[in-house]
Amino acid sequence: MAIDFTDKVAIVTGAGGGLGRAHALELARRGAKLVINDLGAAMDGSGGSSESADAVVAEIEAMGGTAIANGASVSDADGVAGLVAQTMDAFGRIDVLINNAGILRDKSFGKMDLADFRAVLDVHLMGSVMCTHAVWPIMKQQQYGRLLMTTSVTGLYGNFGQTNYGAAKAALYGFMHSLKMEGAKDNIRVNTLAPIAWTRMTAGLNPVPEDQAKEIAARIAPEKATPAAVFLVSEDAPTGIILSAGGGTVARAAMMESPGLYLGDDMTVEDVAANYEQIANMDGAVVLNHNGEQAQKNAELTAKATGG
Ligand SMILES: NC(=O)c1ccc[n+]([C@@H]2O[C@H](COP(=O)([O-])OP(=O)(O)OC[C@H]3O[C@@H](n4cnc5c(N)ncnc54)[C@H](O)[C@@H]3O)[C@@H](O)[C@H]2O)c1
Repeated sequence: MAIDFTDKVAIVTGAGGGLGRAHALELARRGAKLVINDLGAAMDGSGGSSESADAVVAEIEAMGGTAIANGASVSDADGVAGLVAQTMDAFGRIDVLINNAGILRDKSFGKMDLADFRAVLDVHLMGSVMCTHAVWPIMKQQQYGRLLMTTSVTGLYGNFGQTNYGAAKAALYGFMHSLKMEGAKDNIRVNTLAPIAWTRMTAGLNPVPEDQAKEIAARIAPEKATPAAVFLVSEDAPTGIILSAGGGTVARAAMMESPGLYLGDDMTVEDVAANYEQIANMDGAVVLNHNGEQAQKNAELTAKATGG
C-alpha cells in the first residue's frame, strides 16, 4: 500500500538543496504540506539568502503541492521560534520534522580552531535540539510526531579531518536514544538517517574529474537516499532506529555490545588485559534498546558466572 502524507505538515531544515530538497519533494509528492527551511548558507555556514528555499517552494507548487519558505538559521533561537510560529500560522499543526541542515569545517584536530569545532556542533547538534525542542510540545499535544535526525557514516565510524562533524553527528543518535523513550507515550517516534549522496557537501570532500563526478552524481543522487528518510517519518515508522542509505542500498546501523565476561568482584587491570581478546570479540554481540537492558545483561552475566 502506498505510504501517504495527505493532511500531514512537515518541516525539513536545510531543504534548499541536496538531501533536504529531495526529502521535501518526496513528502510533497505524497501529499504533505511542506515548510522549506534553509538559511542559504555557504558550506562553512557563512552568508545566507532565501533564494534556495524559495526555489524549492516553487518546484513544489509547480507539481501542485503546498509549501512555504523559511530562511531562519536552525542555530538561532529566535529564528527557530519564528519557524515554528510561521508553520503553525500557515498550517495549524506539525507532524514531521526532518533535522537535515548542516555545515562542514574540516581540518585535522591539531590544526582545528575550537571556534570551528563549536560552529559545527551548533548547527548539527544544537540546531537539531532547538528545532526538536520547539516542536515537542506541539507534537505531545497532538499525540503525534515523527522526528528524524541526520547522522553520518563519520558519526558512526569516523573520518580523518572530521572530529567536529563526527562528534556532532554521533551526539544526534545519543539524543535520539533517550528522546525515543520520552516520546513513546505520546506517539512521538524518533529515528536517524545516515545518508550517502553526491551533493555539494560530498563533492567538496572528494574532488574527482568531471566525467567521474557525473557518473557518481547519478549513481548516488540524493533522491536515492530519500526513501529511507520518508519511511522513517511515516505513520508506521519504527522508533529509535538508525538507517544508512544511499545509491539504492539501505541497512540498519546500531550500537552493539559483545557478550562480555564476568571477571569477578576483584577484577584487576591484568585480568582485563589477559582476557581482552575475548572481551572485544563481537561474535554474539547484541543491540540494547535502553540502559535497563544493559543492566539486565550484566546481571545475567554475573548470575551465570557465579551460579547466582
Ligand atoms: N551528502 C552526504 O553524503 C551526507 C552524508 C552524511 C550526512 N549528510 C548530512 O546530510 C545533511 C544534508 O547535507 P547535504 O549533503 O544535502 O549538503 P548541502 O550542503 O547540500 O545541504 C545542507 C543545507 O543546509 C543549509 N544550512 C546550513 N546551515 C544552516 C542553518 N544554520 N540553518 C538552516 N539551514 C542551514 C545549507 O544552506 C544547505 O542548503 C547534512 O546534515 C549532512 O551533514 C550528508
